[in-house]
Amino acid sequence: MNQRLSDYRLFLREFRQTFHSTGAILPSGRMLARSLASKVGCGKEGQKILEVGSGTGAVTSQIIARLGPDDRLDLVELNGRFAEVLNDRLKQDPSWRQVADRVRVLQMPMETLGNEQRYEVIVSGLPLNNFSCQVVEQILAQFHRLAAAGASLSFFEYVAIRKAKALCSKLGERRRLTGIGQLLDRELDAWGVGRKCVLANVPPAWVHHLRLPGESFGSSSEAGPLLDGVAAAAN
Ligand SMILES: C[S@@+](CC[C@H](N)C(=O)[O-])C[C@H]1O[C@@H](n2cnc3c(N)ncnc32)[C@H](O)[C@@H]1O
Repeated sequence: MNQRLSDYRLFLREFRQTFHSTGAILPSGRMLARSLASKVGCGKEGQKILEVGSGTGAVTSQIIARLGPDDRLDLVELNGRFAEVLNDRLKQDPSWRQVADRVRVLQMPMETLGNEQRYEVIVSGLPLNNFSCQVVEQILAQFHRLAAAGASLSFFEYVAIRKAKALCSKLGERRRLTGIGQLLDRELDAWGVGRKCVLANVPPAWVHHLRLPGESFGSSSEAGPLLDGVAAAAN
């Protein structure tokens, strides 16, 4: 309970100070976190799992609960204060300590993560609706570069938030939000395998699950047209 209260406090503070990258006033609720982590532990043993935008570890806890004995987990978090919380939990939280030798906290923007490592499961907590179309495009391309063949990608977005924001925004902001919607729709049309509405979250959220082609992506002709154009038009 103490952990949860201090996570809430830190989140609120970071929301005020770094709204653009934090993107949420509260950490994800348990149902949302469970749904985001649901692809962990489904495949073969010894999987490499990547969580980007781990925050204070709400989703990470659910990933850890599903981690197989030979699985490895990388947590990529931009914010140094959140990364510190994650490192502290690896030392102090009993269930996190059990797997600490198989978990790495990488404090960096996920766009700069090298792609020598491929992941079978990718879970994203990034607030994509806060970014420019160009950044969203880079992030989506990075997911593809980091994905092993047939990898799963799970990410969330709050229900109706982009359309509601667009309705009361000026033209430039409306174009940005529409562009992000188009980028995500194309990605989901191409690779989406399921989605779930989590009403028991503040605010309610959609969780999207995708299956990425991984290693074959980029050599195929789908790579370019999927993302080109939309970002250029909306930036
Ligand atoms: C909406 S919060 C989600 C936190 C947590 N996953 C949860 O569900 O409670 C977004 C997180 O993404 C992180 N973030 C934003 N941009 C990032 C980037 N480019 N690379 C890595 N982390 C990023 C923020 O610092 C923040 O922790």
